[in-house]
Amino acid sequence: MKKTCYVTTPIYYSSGNVHIGNSYTTIACDVYSRFHRLSGYDTFFLTGMDEHGQKNEEAAAAAGKTPQQLVDEIAATTNQLWRDMKITHDDFIRTSEERHTRIVREIFSRLLAQDDIYMGAYEGDYCVSCEAFFTKSQLGEDGSCPDCGKPTRKVKEECYFLRLSKYQDRLLEHIKANPDFIEPETRRNEVIAFVESGLEDLAVSRTSFRWGIPVRENPRHVIYVWIDALSNYLTALGYLSADDALYQKYWVNGDKVVHVIGKDILRFHAVYWPIMLMALGVPVNFKLYVHGWVLMKEGKMSKSAGNIIYPRDVMDKYGLDAMRLYLIKEMPLGNDCVFSYERFIEKYNSDLANDLGNLLNRTLVMINKYFAGRLEKPDRRYGDYDRELEETIENTARKYKESFASFRFQNGLNEVWHLINRSNKYIDETMPWVVAKDESRRDELNAILYHLYESLRVTAIMLAPVIPDTAEKIFRDFGLDTIDFNGLGYGKTASVKVTEKPEILFRRLDPEIELKSQNENTKPEITIDDFNKLDLRVGEVIDARKVENSDKLLLLKIKIGAATRQVVSGLAGAYAPADLIGKKLVVVANLKPVKIRGYLSEGMVLTAEGKGLPLEVLEVKKHNSNSRIS
Ligand code: MSP
Repeated sequence: MKKTCYVTTPIYYSSGNVHIGNSYTTIACDVYSRFHRLSGYDTFFLTGMDEHGQKNEEAAAAAGKTPQQLVDEIAATTNQLWRDMKITHDDFIRTSEERHTRIVREIFSRLLAQDDIYMGAYEGDYCVSCEAFFTKSQLGEDGSCPDCGKPTRKVKEECYFLRLSKYQDRLLEHIKANPDFIEPETRRNEVIAFVESGLEDLAVSRTSFRWGIPVRENPRHVIYVWIDALSNYLTALGYLSADDALYQKYWVNGDKVVHVIGKDILRFHAVYWPIMLMALGVPVNFKLYVHGWVLMKEGKMSKSAGNIIYPRDVMDKYGLDAMRLYLIKEMPLGNDCVFSYERFIEKYNSDLANDLGNLLNRTLVMINKYFAGRLEKPDRRYGDYDRELEETIENTARKYKESFASFRFQNGLNEVWHLINRSNKYIDETMPWVVAKDESRRDELNAILYHLYESLRVTAIMLAPVIPDTAEKIFRDFGLDTIDFNGLGYGKTASVKVTEKPEILFRRLDPEIELKSQNENTKPEITIDDFNKLDLRVGEVIDARKVENSDKLLLLKIKIGAATRQVVSGLAGAYAPADLIGKKLVVVANLKPVKIRGYLSEGMVLTAEGKGLPLEVLEVKKHNSNSRIS
């Protein structure tokens, strides 16, 4: 029977687009899953969406949609993005699905019935954006959220608690008895220190919003999003449902259960999740790989800094494989890495165009030129170079497997590139163009090219989990079909027949041209007719007030000519209502009206936003309301 491997990404928040940074987790899990499939594991790869919570409730209201409509749209786009990125997930679970909500409710009820969850009261500072409570000492000086910097809200509510304290000792024992439970070790040590400092019981229900899973015994309460979200790793396998075969196979009797997460969500996975499992009597047999962040040169990616890069921008321009390789090869396990177009283009040129691309192209050209595309396996060695390259192939494959099996992709890929560079050096050392001049050295020439072919064939197999399209192209050029780890080793090909017309896989990029185009606007071009569809008018604000229970929204009354419009606008973070009254603003007058938080919104106010600066409305000084803007 095949060994099993269950790999999960965190389920992504459905509150925004996936950017190049958080797409890393999913690409890394895909690499890990593909590697295990090729290693002969029966692999189940899960990803999905974390859809409940106040943030989505508010975002849906602001967009005039129901929360379900909003998350349906986001789930469809996200799942499509993963498909386009050749992510090979076996399931995509969404926390608003009935197969999930039903079981989460059941999990909560069980924990309540056995008194691991109890009713208490909570008073604390809550960040809506992060869906988390913070203690006084964690807050910023002005009471802001320590994670995202936004204002927190004081919340006092009756709520349910999970008895974390009861399981503190068992959790510590588990962590200490299983040194590889959390990797890398620095993260493990962080968790030990956190647990040893003492666990307080966790508030696990909310009454301040509705978009969540109601507690069966007390539906005024919805289940805390993290309890809801973490459970996805079990609900997707059919835990507690009529058919729990996947749960039995991949979890209970599984050989490898791996949760991959970024460092920001460590506490939830290393403390709350194992305690939930202990309380439920589910074996705590998973392990955690905790990776760092993809950062920009100036730090975190964020809307306010205006420095977000989306995977589509990169892959549409430079190809999916170049993007996948960059992220996987740049990120060491446990530390952060930087994404910059300068570095991306530099690595594209050195790793792909020069090292791999040249080796492939030189080899194919020579096999065609000297042997009309055909080689035979040599029956002897012609020098130390041959033995050395054969050994490098074998050693690389071994080190690669060890590194990839333990999520050390960067180490594994550095080994692969060592082999690629060693092979390029082998060409310089053996000088096939010199050997080719001597008819009596035909067999030696065949052996040289055969070694290069074998090195590239093994390289393509090792790269298949990371850059699957490129690996397949190399296999096709080599006249081979199925990529298989049994092929990892020198001398597995009896006779060779390569393509006559090799295509250049990666052309060198000119950094100057590329970087210039990156700095320019990347939205698609429009025509003057597109622009003329907008009816832009000057409108005077005659009234402004805050929308109840919202940090972002203002309700404006705007006079355009004789008529007065009502516009709901996300200006509350940047303007006090009184500051807007009397201002003459630019309004999109023909925008289809929508309801936002129950208020009709008949237009849109234009604003400027950009790196590190506050949102600013566009104002007109001399004109009166109703003037056209063109
Ligand atoms: N919804 C939660 C997870 C619940 S799991 C039970 C969540 N979602 S997320 O969309 O914010 O994050 C998804 C993944 O992206 C997480 O692993 C997170 O750590 C990771 N990253 C978010 N920003 C990142 C970078 N800039 N770089 C690398 N990974 C980052 O957290």
